[in-house]
Amino acid sequence: MKIFVTRAIPKPGLEILQRNHQVEINPHDRILSKEEILQGLKGKDGLLCLLTDTIDKEILVSEPKLRMVANYAVGFNNIDVSTASSLKIPVSNTPDVLTDTTAEMAWALVFAVSRRIVEGDKFTRNGSFKGWAPMLLLGQDITTKTLGVIGTGRIGTAFALKSQGFHMNVQYVDSHSNEVLEKTLGAKKVPLEQCLHDSDVISLHVPLFPETYHLIGEKEFQMMKKTTIFINTSRGQVVDEKALIKALYQKRIFGAGLDVYEHEPSIPNDLIGLENVVLQPHIASATIETRTKMAIIAAKNMIVGLQNKIPPNCVNPEVFK
Ligand code: DGY
Repeated sequence: MKIFVTRAIPKPGLEILQRNHQVEINPHDRILSKEEILQGLKGKDGLLCLLTDTIDKEILVSEPKLRMVANYAVGFNNIDVSTASSLKIPVSNTPDVLTDTTAEMAWALVFAVSRRIVEGDKFTRNGSFKGWAPMLLLGQDITTKTLGVIGTGRIGTAFALKSQGFHMNVQYVDSHSNEVLEKTLGAKKVPLEQCLHDSDVISLHVPLFPETYHLIGEKEFQMMKKTTIFINTSRGQVVDEKALIKALYQKRIFGAGLDVYEHEPSIPNDLIGLENVVLQPHIASATIETRTKMAIIAAKNMIVGLQNKIPPNCVNPEVFK
């Protein structure tokens, strides 16, 4: 069968696909335009795409042979899954393998912000360091503080569990109780307002759905403490970026660590100009090990889906009913 891959992924994944199938890979190291995706998909049975590709209805209906879409990401908000389901096309994602890697990035951001690591690095390199000083680059302690985790699926749970060494008071927001966190950490399930109000560190781990769009906006930033550290490694649109910029500019909160942006890859100059935010280019899952595992999982999902069987990480299993 024929597969279109919208951008080269690590070799072990491509090799799985190439074993029994004809694979066409985007020859450029860049995001393809919609027209290029439509062109590449012509005559293909499978589409292996990235979170940077918007796979909308027009793309899904364009190729009648299309019978499997494998996303190279755990998030799948870039795909019109309901149209795929109506066309009986299974869609898969790459969960589990990136859980700890993404949780580690969230912690990296917590410390980068709380201990002003990026500012300190710049200060040291540019020759401003003239010796130890009592008031130099004062940050915030983390140990024994209150941690607020919004969304405790796989990544939120892993992130919260990693707080153990810091003896934090953990509270979380979720529609379901999280027994693991409650038993292991004595974590408390609280309403969003309470979490925003009481937490010293707030980390977002919800997927992007219509219900989570702009979950955190001006009103929510107003509820946070002036010392709060706000972390987002989920999806940019979960936060009203203008409200975040205002909160940072007015020093309504201590700082933020971001891996994702509302209109990425575009990032407002107003955000770039601020010192109290640490910015990363959506690399929370970017380790050699994890990206390789993601490639293997995406390829395996594709292979199984092309056999008209339910892929291991199918996000629309109703297709097979
Ligand atoms: C995902 O897989 O959804 C992550 O955002 C990738 O970094």
